[in-house]
Amino acid sequence: MEFRFLTIDDYDSVIKLWERAGLKFKPEGRDRRDFILKQLERYPDMLLGAYDDGKLVGIALLTDDGRKGWINRLAVDPDYRRRGVAKGLIEKSEDIFRKKGIHLFAALVEDWNIPSQNLFSSVGYKKHNDIFYFTKRDSDEY
Ligand SMILES: CC(C)(COP(=O)(O)OP(=O)(O)OC[C@H]1O[C@@H](n2cnc3c(N)ncnc32)[C@H](O)[C@@H]1OP(=O)(O)O)[C@@H](O)C(=O)NCCC(=O)NCCS
Repeated sequence: MEFRFLTIDDYDSVIKLWERAGLKFKPEGRDRRDFILKQLERYPDMLLGAYDDGKLVGIALLTDDGRKGWINRLAVDPDYRRRGVAKGLIEKSEDIFRKKGIHLFAALVEDWNIPSQNLFSSVGYKKHNDIFYFTKRDSDEY
């Protein structure tokens, strides 16, 4: 498996993979092409792709505020699951954050998403049952 940063030219493949993976995303808002382009211009190392034999099989969208590194929009092609693709993406993401001096890594996982909860537990993440996620959005697309 190989990892490389994706560019805006990979946008359609990213959307296809998120759809195939059944991942919830915001195609009319935060994940719209022009939004992603703007984000990539600022953070060129934001979209990490995992490749098997040249085929994009997994994605992670990395964000950080200089203090904490977030692993977002993690998705693996259904035909490539349980082969360690997500685990590899998480490990690679942590290395990318470490190179920036960030040593706290985090992910938000929905309560029904047992595969993802198991995944993060399996690579050493601690589940916090005492934290609630509060958000405020200008619209549901964000
Ligand atoms: C969750 C997801 C990213 C896992 O990808 P993956 O490449 O299959 O995961 P890995 O092969 O790296 O799995 C590593 C470990 O995670 C756990 N795990 C992964 N998928 C699991 C599942 N379906 N059920 C239970 N545990 C699972 C296991 O402990 C696994 O180790 P093992 O295979 O040796 O038992 C993938 O199922 C997916 O894309 N799901 C849809 C999108 C999604 O929910 N993304 C997460 C958003 S927070």
